[in-house]
Amino acid sequence: GTNASSTNHTKYEEIISTLPRIEGRWRQSQQLREYQGFWFAQNMLQGIMSAQEQFKAQPTDIFICSHPKSGTTWLKALSFAILTRKRFIYSSTNPLLSELPHDVVPFIETLSFTDITSRDPELPLLSTHLPYTSLPKSVVECKCKIIYICRDPKDLFVSMWHFAGKLRGTRAETFPLEEACQKFCEGLNHGGPCWDHVLGYWKASLQFPERMLFIKYEDLQNDTFSYVRRMAEFMGCPFSMEEERQGLVQKVVDLCSFEILSNLEVNKSKKHSSSLRHFFKVEKNEFFRKGKVGDWENYLATEMAATIDQITEQKFSGSGLSF
Ligand code: A3P
Repeated sequence: GTNASSTNHTKYEEIISTLPRIEGRWRQSQQLREYQGFWFAQNMLQGIMSAQEQFKAQPTDIFICSHPKSGTTWLKALSFAILTRKRFIYSSTNPLLSELPHDVVPFIETLSFTDITSRDPELPLLSTHLPYTSLPKSVVECKCKIIYICRDPKDLFVSMWHFAGKLRGTRAETFPLEEACQKFCEGLNHGGPCWDHVLGYWKASLQFPERMLFIKYEDLQNDTFSYVRRMAEFMGCPFSMEEERQGLVQKVVDLCSFEILSNLEVNKSKKHSSSLRHFFKVEKNEFFRKGKVGDWENYLATEMAATIDQITEQKFSGSGLSF
C-alpha cells in the first residue's frame, strides 16, 4: 500500500494544484478549492480523491451523509445506537459512552489508505460530507442505503460560523458575521454551496426512495422517537414489539440526546478527535454547542436572514423542498 499511496499522493497534489482557488477565511489562511462543482478545504481534497478512487463499498454499507454542521454528529450517534442496540444499549462498554461519535462512525474522506481498503465487517456504518454527485461510484452502484440530514441554512450558517471560530483558535469575531454570511451565500465554505448539496441528495431520494432516507434536523428534533423507529426500519433492523414494550426506542432517543451526549466526559473533552486530528485541530466538545432549532435569531440581522431565505426559496423552488 505504501508505494501506491505515495504515487497517488503526488498525483492528487498535481490535480489539486490546478483547481480554482480562493481564500476561505473560515480557518486562518485556509484555501478553498473548487472540485466537481463544490468548494472544499484544500487539505481535505487528497482524502476526498483517494476515497473516490480507493473506497469499495459493500451492498450492506449504510451511509450517513450531510453538509457540515447539519446534525451529522447526532445522526451518527443515533444510527450507531440503533444498529448495535442488542450488544450495547444496556452496556457500560457502549462506544458512544467513551468515544466521540465521529470516532465511532468515520468519514470515508478521512480514512487512511489501509482503513479504506480493509473494512471492519462488524460495522457497516460509514459517513461522508461529499455531495451526492461526488460519492465514490461503488456507493451508488452497490445501491448502498443512505441517510441524509439537512438543516435550515440559517442555523447551519450560525453553527458553522461558531465552529470556524474555534478552528481558527482565535475569537470568532475576527471573521465578521456579515462577511462570513456573504461567503456562505456564495457557497464559499467547505462543502458549499449547501443548497446544491441538499438538492443533490433530495433529488436522489425522490429517484431512489427505497435506498435513501432524507431527514431534516428540525423534524428530527420535533419527533426524534418516530425517526428512530423509521431509521431502524430503513436500516433493516426494525424494533420488535418486545423491544418497543421494553422502551428501547426511547432508550436510544435519550442516549443520543444533546443533554446526555454533550455531558459525557469524552464529549466535554478538550482533546482532539482521533479520526479528525490529522485534518484539523478540533476539540471534541466543539461538536456540541447548543443543539437548538432557530438559534439564528440570536445572531443574524434581519437582512442577513432575509438574504439566506431568499437563496433558499430560489434554489429550492419547484423541488418540493422548503425550510
Ligand atoms: P449548533 O451549533 O447549532 O448547536 P454537525 O454534527 O453536522 O457538525 O452539526 C453540529 C450541530 O449539531 C451543532 O449545532 C451541534 O450542537 C448539534 N448537535 C450535536 N449533537 C447533537 C444532539 N445530540 N442533538 C441535537 N443537536 C446536536
